[in-house]
Amino acid sequence: MGTARVVFDRWDWAYAERMASVRSSAVRDLFGAATRPDVISFAGGMPDVTKVPAEAVARAAREALRESAATALQYGSSEGRPGLRRIFVELMAESGIRAKPDDVVVTAGAQQALDLVGKAFLDPGDVVITEGPTYLGALQAFSAYRPRIVCIPMDDDGMRVDLLEAELERLGLRGAKFIYTIPNFQNPAGVTLSPERRRRLVELARQYEVPIVEDDPYGRLRFEGGHCKPLKALDDDVIYLGTLSKIFAPGLRLGWVCAPRPILQKVLLVKQAADLCGSEFSQAVAERYFTGTRWRRVLKDLTQAYAERRDAMLAALAEHLPPEVRYTRPQGGFFVWVELPAFIDTKPLLAEAVERGVAYVPGDAFYPDGRGRNCMRLAFCFAEPEQIEEGVRRLAEVFEDRLELYRAFADAGLAV
Ligand SMILES: Cc1ncc(COP(=O)(O)O)c(C=O)c1O
Repeated sequence: MGTARVVFDRWDWAYAERMASVRSSAVRDLFGAATRPDVISFAGGMPDVTKVPAEAVARAAREALRESAATALQYGSSEGRPGLRRIFVELMAESGIRAKPDDVVVTAGAQQALDLVGKAFLDPGDVVITEGPTYLGALQAFSAYRPRIVCIPMDDDGMRVDLLEAELERLGLRGAKFIYTIPNFQNPAGVTLSPERRRRLVELARQYEVPIVEDDPYGRLRFEGGHCKPLKALDDDVIYLGTLSKIFAPGLRLGWVCAPRPILQKVLLVKQAADLCGSEFSQAVAERYFTGTRWRRVLKDLTQAYAERRDAMLAALAEHLPPEVRYTRPQGGFFVWVELPAFIDTKPLLAEAVERGVAYVPGDAFYPDGRGRNCMRLAFCFAEPEQIEEGVRRLAEVFEDRLELYRAFADAGLAV
């Protein structure tokens, strides 16, 4: 932080125009500061991999090599290992999605899937509809293809489908290339799309002939409340993205796309151009890890730990932040979205926060157009509950002065 310098670049003339619209990820940029041992990080959505037993992964790797090193160390098929695709189909079946292994292509995390979908669908100027705010990695992936991104606001029940309907009506039939949504424990807002809105969303997408891209990294990390059926379970035409990053480990870089066959063919073509095939070794390890039942116990423990951290964060926010500050109450996943009074800009305050030993991601990173400046995303997944309490206390200190100013203005009847 604070090290950004303008460097003369003699190759400036040579880059593709699209590079002008690709922004660096605020979270990636923060990595250095946020991993300092004295900083309590609410910045990255990093799963707590210390809870994944390394010895179980080592055993899976040994088995993969023992059974067939010649396969595990070789190039594989672009679709991915049949055994792992079967496992993905079983995982999806548990949440209500009916699919076959041939409906699935393995990707290097959901992040690659986002890029491949962008590449397969988008020309410059095309409209993509997203929630506002939305996952910054999706904004980054799509922006390389230079679409116009239209954000639909959310409330506690997820995307406002009434506003989506108005937007689709304005855009007309096939007016957007796709609707990108994170229905479960949304990143960054933490909210979940209600079952009624899910039904309405798929109806609208059908009516206006716009594909839906459903990104679901957090669906299995529910702390309370009933399971909501994925959009893909309501409509087979949905393009569903899954990942092992949050239920196993992001270090293996494994995710998948489940889509209607014609779309999958296109995804496969762009995947071949991108990397020929995914890591056969990672896939073989994951295949072994998900055979048997131990992973279920690990996931249960992980979910329990995240639930405790969510509780710690909500309790600390209630204790340390004044009522002018609003925040969401997620029923699962990794994130709380905090909204401060409109005149407070969280971006310039980040340096001060890091100085005080706490990090967050400023809200404007989650919009394509500079909105969200008075907001921030807090990830509760990584720090222990005691650290979370301390981190929120430090955060409150950062905002205290500004909030006092706000109150003074408000008391004097002045608008801020
Ligand atoms: C909504 C969402 N989509 C996709 C990803 C990318 O995950 P992966 O590690 O599978 O590439 C993330 C990671 O945080 C995410 O939050």
